[in-house]
Amino acid sequence: MTNKQTAAPQRFLTGITTTGTPHLGNYVGSIRPSVAASTGTGAESFYFLADYHALIKCDEPARIQRSTLEIAASWLAAGLDPERVTFYRQSDIPEIPELTWLLTCVTAKGVLNRAHAYKASVDKNTAAGNDPDADVSAGLFMYPVLMGADILMFKAHHVPVGRDQIQHIEMARDMGQRFNHLYGEHFVLPQALIEESVALLPGLDGRKMSKSYDNTIPLFTPREQLKKLIAGIVTDSRAPGEPKEVEGSALFQIYQAFASEQETAALRLAYNEGIGWGEAKQLLFERIDREVAPMRAHYQELMNDPAKIEAILQAGADKARRLAKPFMRELREAVGLRNLGAQAASASRGKAAKSSLPTFKQYRETDGRFHFKLVDVKGQLLLQSNGFDSPKDAAQAIVLLQTQGAGALPGLEDKLQAVPGVATEAVEAALQQLIDAKN
Ligand code: TRP
Repeated sequence: MTNKQTAAPQRFLTGITTTGTPHLGNYVGSIRPSVAASTGTGAESFYFLADYHALIKCDEPARIQRSTLEIAASWLAAGLDPERVTFYRQSDIPEIPELTWLLTCVTAKGVLNRAHAYKASVDKNTAAGNDPDADVSAGLFMYPVLMGADILMFKAHHVPVGRDQIQHIEMARDMGQRFNHLYGEHFVLPQALIEESVALLPGLDGRKMSKSYDNTIPLFTPREQLKKLIAGIVTDSRAPGEPKEVEGSALFQIYQAFASEQETAALRLAYNEGIGWGEAKQLLFERIDREVAPMRAHYQELMNDPAKIEAILQAGADKARRLAKPFMRELREAVGLRNLGAQAASASRGKAAKSSLPTFKQYRETDGRFHFKLVDVKGQLLLQSNGFDSPKDAAQAIVLLQTQGAGALPGLEDKLQAVPGVATEAVEAALQQLIDAKN
């Protein structure tokens, strides 16, 4: 690694799909570590609301809108500083769907066939004896490409995600690599960043806490509700006084995600000594509420002022597009989506000047005077000048012919000689060709 590479600020980027209300799993797995990373020095963070992704799973407009608001408020309440990070809404960046298409064209369909989310739907359909693609939208199939565009657009080095997203990051990496191979080095190849200690938070039923299992604890649920939900976490039937297993205990794992090492060690001991489930749940409730309560108040304030959140997101989109717009221009150029006037035409004009246009040639005669001649593409003489006192005078006459064409001929009559055997029309046509090539 060169010094330059080590010194480059590391970019972190992650998104949350706007289909639900943020829960403790989102907080522990994504929001909290991301906010923490964004306060470190040498890090540049990009966090966004993945509302285009939400459309893949949800066709209820009100829910999308509500969720976008709740998630934005949650990140801000959790301490995200929109001055320090680039915080934006995916759908405010039209360059993202544009990049999605460029990436679509370098992504093998077979790779997308193997994406977990799509494959899970196909497997389910197959098991049920249905058509493999029954109820599968092309959006679900393309999900990894849209995500690749999210990541590659901002040249992210690290993408903090849950384990279920690792495959998507690898796919983004492959897309970037393939594009770079075809069109030159444009993309940074990203890496998934997994918080090893708290990669997965169990939900109320002990399975991974997830919207799709309906087993979540909303992050900013009111205090009383939080207490009620925690009381509903599955436990085994061991009575108070009986030693309890920490292994496989959802309650213990959730506690661990919020507690310090000493607090965790203390609960482990309490499990051993037969703490009652009711008491353990009370400990968990108090521990979570201690961390969440101050943020909850801030969250309520923000939820009561959606226009303020909108303004923050608009400012974030401006910031993001200052990078996305020029980068997209670069990528369009790279693949050949080009301004014909500025690019291809000028290239061919250069060629034409060499190969298919008449040319003026200046030279000095043995008498010491300055002359020029006009020759056609084959080198045949079309027009010959008399001698000029200086090269500058000769050049001025050439400029007149180049800019005015045949119109300049009468004024230069005594400075030019007709070439025997060359028709005036041929000279006029050659001069016109030069003028046409300029325009
Ligand atoms: N697919 C991610 C999830 O469901 C959300 C997401 C969309 C994302 N685009 C992203 C995460 C880009 C990281 C980077 O959790």
